[in-house]
Amino acid sequence: MEAFPGLIDCHVHFREPGLEHKATIASEASAARSGGVFVCCEMPNTTPPTNSIERLKDKVERADHARDVCDVRFFFGATVHEHLAELEQLLSDPSLASLRRHCCGLKLYLDNSTGDMKSEDDVTEAAFALCGKYSFPLVAHCEHAGTNDRCSCIPYTNAASHSERRPAISEVTSIREAISRAEKHNTPLHIAHLSTAEGMRCVKDARERGVKVTCEVTPHHLLLTVADYDTLGGRGKVNPPIRYSDDQELLWDGVIDGTIDCIATDHAPHLLSEKDTTDGMPPSGLPGVEVSLRLLLSIALGHWPHPTTKPPASALKLTTEMIRRLMFTRPNEIFDLHASDAPAIRIDKQGSYTITNENQKTKCGWTPYNGWEVKGDFSLI
Ligand code: DOR
Ligand code: ZN
Ligand code: ZN
Repeated sequence: MEAFPGLIDCHVHFREPGLEHKATIASEASAARSGGVFVCCEMPNTTPPTNSIERLKDKVERADHARDVCDVRFFFGATVHEHLAELEQLLSDPSLASLRRHCCGLKLYLDNSTGDMKSEDDVTEAAFALCGKYSFPLVAHCEHAGTNDRCSCIPYTNAASHSERRPAISEVTSIREAISRAEKHNTPLHIAHLSTAEGMRCVKDARERGVKVTCEVTPHHLLLTVADYDTLGGRGKVNPPIRYSDDQELLWDGVIDGTIDCIATDHAPHLLSEKDTTDGMPPSGLPGVEVSLRLLLSIALGHWPHPTTKPPASALKLTTEMIRRLMFTRPNEIFDLHASDAPAIRIDKQGSYTITNENQKTKCGWTPYNGWEVKGDFSLI
């Protein structure tokens, strides 16, 4: 009987404090666990953002009661130099060592997304230098303001037009800039939610030159394409956007050949009342923490779960060993999480399961994979 350790999702948004109408640490910790995810790395774009020692402490205390359900670690955020000064204190003051263990890295937004946490050039440069100095993971949300068309007078009339306004070149330009800063400062750089084949090539080339760069891809960029906007509408709006099938196919090649280090969901709960708004401006983001293992397990067992598309050539080469590397071994190494590798999830290869909005535990109560039938099932040991 095959078993996995409790898995790691190194990119989630749990919304607490400040956005508890969408989700809470407790609600999303139980969603994660039901999906076989025992450790999550949570992003700083809450209200207020996690950009000081005090605010980090507050989140760690909030997560205390949920730790047996899911061990939530937190990314620090920075938009101005004062935030970096706080981070340097966290990294250097021995009396903060126990708090430091709950902080998995620094997250920088190189363009605005949910939370408007874009860091300006001089702060970005200083952040790469600081993380290089302490060999501390720096996760970059790579979109480039100069190549995004964000004219605020034109609403995003639908999710498809959102894809056109945040084109592939936006991600690629931003990844190139981030890599050159990492190279200069010897920063351990991790590219969040890689969505383009060209961006992946940049990562691969840089790594071959000896740059310390790793990357993750989301289940939605592996499973969905722009064709899904027809059914998802505003629910499919996400940053970076769902892409065309040529990017999707090449990302799968990267999953199979090991260029992609991690699969992380970018679990970003928003209420359906917000996503289905008729004002043309739904918020960006999709939930995913509790379904990623189900989706990947199905593919590893030979069943592509998308109801209307064919699998990219590489996808069906996925194995359960690869899932273990992508959702446990690599995130555990990259973010130095010291997660337990004891068997925790018993895989049932003969089982099956239907993903529905109704069986989601996330507080937002929906999934972009509503109605999808997956092969395989699992239970917690
Ligand atoms: O689509 C997104 N949603 N992308 C992000 O970078 C943030 C996330 C969120 O927090 O909703
Ligand atoms: Zn992001
Ligand atoms: Zn995110």
